[in-house]
Amino acid sequence: MSSIKVGLLGLGVVGGGVWKVLNTNAEEIARRAGRCIEVSVAAVRDVDKARRLVGDSLKIVDDPMLVVRDPDIDIVVELIGGDTLARELIMEAIAQGKHVVTANKALLAEHGNEIFQAARDRGVMVTFEAAVAGGIPIVKAIREGLTANRIEWVAGIINGTTNFILTQMLAQGQSFDEALADAQRLGYAEADPTFDIEGIDAAHKLSLLASLAFGIPVQFEKAYTEGITNLAQEDLAHAERLGYRVKLLGITRRRPEGIELRVHPTLVPADSMLASVQGAMNAVLVRGDVVGPTLYYGQGAGDMPTASAVIADLVDVTRLQAADPGHRVPYLAFQHDAMDDTPVLEMADVVSSYYLRLRVQDRPGVLADIARLLADVGISIGSMFQEPYGDNEAEIIFLTHQAREGDIDSALQRIAGLPFVHSGVTRLRVESLL
Ligand code: NDP
Ligand code: HSE
Repeated sequence: MSSIKVGLLGLGVVGGGVWKVLNTNAEEIARRAGRCIEVSVAAVRDVDKARRLVGDSLKIVDDPMLVVRDPDIDIVVELIGGDTLARELIMEAIAQGKHVVTANKALLAEHGNEIFQAARDRGVMVTFEAAVAGGIPIVKAIREGLTANRIEWVAGIINGTTNFILTQMLAQGQSFDEALADAQRLGYAEADPTFDIEGIDAAHKLSLLASLAFGIPVQFEKAYTEGITNLAQEDLAHAERLGYRVKLLGITRRRPEGIELRVHPTLVPADSMLASVQGAMNAVLVRGDVVGPTLYYGQGAGDMPTASAVIADLVDVTRLQAADPGHRVPYLAFQHDAMDDTPVLEMADVVSSYYLRLRVQDRPGVLADIARLLADVGISIGSMFQEPYGDNEAEIIFLTHQAREGDIDSALQRIAGLPFVHSGVTRLRVESLL
């Protein structure tokens, strides 16, 4: 059978990896796909640089629209990134009747509903395994492996850069800036690393996971997003002392009132599986009502792991290309007419346990007053410890039992107004994920 023809948009970290693996593992991949997968053309900005990478063996152009409109191309692989040019290119590829593979979570989080609708109307596939958790086949696991389940929640370390930074800060004593520079050098970080450190990249991925898990439209704009830039070293240390480790988690949970969709630094038990995920590794826990908890672990970023996921999609598209569109796997796991409109909950309605740290005057009655304000809104303290701070102040750390975030907010507002409270209240969420 003739080879299937691929047009690569981008030959950077991921595009370069895809090119390399399609060559080194060509035979094994063809045995799986049933046909050779051949890259016919690639588009980049700097043709000379690309030439140094791939030699003369590949046609290189500097206008990606030429690739998208090339009548010989069957599959367009978008590895440019961003949500303007990439969106135009993907929409044009779809209009041209081409299948699309992308690693671009930012684009799908912002415009996924529109892109999947256009692809459905045109009868082409759009696949995105590499967009979530790099080399881990989590999209396929949720979309195909767990279809018997009503999924209860998904929680994971889904940004390699921030996990790398937190690991380096805790284990190697590196500063935040040093660790971020290393993550950039290693090719983990986004073109704009703010997306990583402010939790935006994780929220992009989480909104895709929520759609796959619960059959809701992609709703990145409703995700609560808090990154790691305001985390203090002392909170990492206090968490350890309490038997926890701080990780940037994406959590989406189905509750009777709606769906939680949130990314934030989280204390997880130090002996839990997520706590042991180090460096740029990712891990995703999925709890289904039938299967119980399942864990997926692997490299979440970098050229080779991401190429692995892109090529898995290429093989899937190659295998299913001739299938009737109605018999292909739905883009977001659920049949289009079975998607539902369960609301995404406001953060005030999220339920979690909390870590609270504040500095107070060290005198009788202070603890009792704080405990009273928490109790007034039904919040119960699980544990606490106190450390002297200077001559007549103390730092108090509380762990609460589960509470509604809106109740914590109103208690903290009142606590911050007490005359003997000498600092803001640091608040981190705590999850046991059982
Ligand atoms: P890079 O910046 O390394 O590569 C981008 C590529 O796109 C380069 O080859 C660049 O060309 C090309 N490009 C950019 N703009 C244009 C343009 N206007 N016309 C033609 N070519 C263009 O990015 P990555 O490979 O790291 O990321 C690509 C995508 O994969 C992003 O969506 C990212 O979020 C996603 N992703 C990345 C992961 C990673 O570990 N890096 C992991 C998972 C997903 P030139 O080289 O000439 O500048
Ligand atoms: N910047 C991303 C990360 C790349 O650090 O996880 C993988 O999506």
